[in-house]
Amino acid sequence: MPSVPSVLLAGCGKMGGALFDGWLASPTPPRLVVLDRHRTCSGDAVSVVRTAAEIPADFQPDIIVLAVKPAVAEIVIDAIGKALGARMNNAAILSVMAGRTCKSLADAARLNGADVPVLRAMPNTPSAIGAGISGLYASDMATAEQKTICHDLLFAVGDVVPVEKEADLSVVTAISGSGPAYVFLLAELLEKAGQQHGLSPTVARRLARGTIYGAGRMLDDMPDSAEDLRKAVTSPNGTTAAALAVLMKSDAWPETVPKAIDAATKRADELAG
Ligand SMILES: NC(=O)c1ccc[n+]([C@@H]2O[C@H](COP(=O)([O-])OP(=O)(O)OC[C@H]3O[C@@H](n4cnc5c(N)ncnc54)[C@H](OP(=O)(O)O)[C@@H]3O)[C@@H](O)[C@H]2O)c1
Repeated sequence: MPSVPSVLLAGCGKMGGALFDGWLASPTPPRLVVLDRHRTCSGDAVSVVRTAAEIPADFQPDIIVLAVKPAVAEIVIDAIGKALGARMNNAAILSVMAGRTCKSLADAARLNGADVPVLRAMPNTPSAIGAGISGLYASDMATAEQKTICHDLLFAVGDVVPVEKEADLSVVTAISGSGPAYVFLLAELLEKAGQQHGLSPTVARRLARGTIYGAGRMLDDMPDSAEDLRKAVTSPNGTTAAALAVLMKSDAWPETVPKAIDAATKRADELAG
């Protein structure tokens, strides 16, 4: 296995950029060629190209990370296939795109004559600060070495949870891929509520963010279930109980959160076609 893998990162926007930032901050960044229309960056281990045709002729990627929008996946695979030629056969694709199946991406690569193993991951944007979590699925075609490199690339930016079935990635997308947005919404709503009760924006913001950070740390550090941690801070007839009585009424969180996850899972299934 190469001690430092060579990675072609196609798409360096919000998600690809989060991975990129995380890799550069890790102790052993991969050797990187970034294919993106906007990204500007240079360094010993990084070169940035605007089109696939500019990928250096001597660059042999071990892994091609696809982090473009699903709608342009075929166009990008086609351009990379034409640029790499036979080099494509020595690489594996790691897609972080929502929805697109391993089969559809392998078929797109095959149109260029390349028989390429495809792995799929669903990371999330906290990867940019090394606090991501990714679901990872590897098709049978991937070698043990390719699986290890992909695991390690994702592990460099957070935790990795392998999934047995590709179909499970839809619910992974709904829970952790989209999940940071749900927590940001909670922060937004707590901040607004604090201000409505007369706190300054700065104080409301510090309280909301500090609370989510501290609760997240407790979930991470302590062995207790989330339910036990909730019960431990809820005295009978106390203030927390008063708020939870509103949040846990049958028409509130216990009903709407599963509905939201259902909607996101269904959308991920639809994108997979
Ligand atoms: N955002 C998230 O939280 C998240 C989480 C998990 C997974 N994902 C997945 O990550 C993928 C990317 O999402 P994103 O939010 O990061 O999108 P994004 O911010 O639009 O990033 C995509 C980048 O790729 C560039 N690009 C597209 N086609 C290109 C081409 N042919 N040549 C060079 N550069 C090209 C785009 O440039 P242009 O703007 O010029 O097109 C853009 O800079 C999606 O498939 C999504 O499902 C996202």
